Amino acid sequence: MSGAGTTASRIAARYRSGAHDGPEPASSPVIDLALQHRSVREFLPTPVADGELESIVAAAQSASQSSNLQVWSIVAVRDRDRLQRLSATIGGRPYVANAPLFLAFVADFHRAAALARAHGAEVGTTGCIENTLVAFADAGIAAQNALLAAESLGLGGVFVGSLRNDIPGVVAELGLPRYVFPIFGLSIGRPDPAENAGVKPRLPMAAVLHHEQYDPEAWRAPVAEYEERLADYFAEHGKDDYSWTRTIVTRIGSVAGLHGREVMRERLREQGLDSD
Ligand SMILES: Cc1cc2nc3c(=O)[nH]c(=O)nc-3n(C[C@H](O)[C@H](O)[C@H](O)COP(=O)(O)O)c2cc1C
Repeated sequence: MSGAGTTASRIAARYRSGAHDGPEPASSPVIDLALQHRSVREFLPTPVADGELESIVAAAQSASQSSNLQVWSIVAVRDRDRLQRLSATIGGRPYVANAPLFLAFVADFHRAAALARAHGAEVGTTGCIENTLVAFADAGIAAQNALLAAESLGLGGVFVGSLRNDIPGVVAELGLPRYVFPIFGLSIGRPDPAENAGVKPRLPMAAVLHHEQYDPEAWRAPVAEYEERLADYFAEHGKDDYSWTRTIVTRIGSVAGLHGREVMRERLREQGLDSD
């Protein structure tokens, strides 16, 4: 995903802010690529080659790792029947069923626990929430490397948090042992140019970037601006009456906004990651 434009114009497009103002932003091919990201949910049927998979996973593993523990793994799925079943398990997701390649990112203490046992040690900390946080954070950092690597190859993708819609179903389908927990998926393939999607604007930087100390009021004006910019984006892509505020209020306001995922602590326990 390359294209004409300067880093300044790409930053302006990312925030939908009109023209970029202020000094010239720093520029690099990596930054330009990151600025052009969009989730891809419609794929051409072309397979993702083994060489592409190898480079994507090597890029993911190249990410920093807490204490170099490497407590996450990837289950790569390309079998069409399995992808159909996975999609059905999590409530029907065409971007999973039709993905040329699906990478399930899993927290993985199976390896570490087996190693500890093999050396006569206890497995005493898999139930500690610090370890769960480490695995989830590290997998997220690695996964973004994977997506950026895929995008640099002209591929596209979308993360799939819906993988947590049915943890027991996903555990069974992917054969995940104790101490392994599905975090999210990443569907990857060649973008279908007919997909009606573009660069989705983000909150103005002033809402997100605090200098020296956190400003609890910094969000107000930028969020009002964002409400309009994101509604314009969705209207351009065939969805009228979108409200970011409504989305956030629904998600934060009541447990119903979690669509059944409020049981995650119990699911973690079932896999041996008690998160106490
Ligand atoms: C951890 C994570 C899980 C996500 N899960 C889903 C998902 O289940 N389904 C989906 O359509 N998009 C999913 N997304 C994609 C987001 O909806 C998308 O990144 C966001 O709306 C911003 O749009 P953009 O990526 O096109 O800029 C997920 C993104 C992340 C980071």
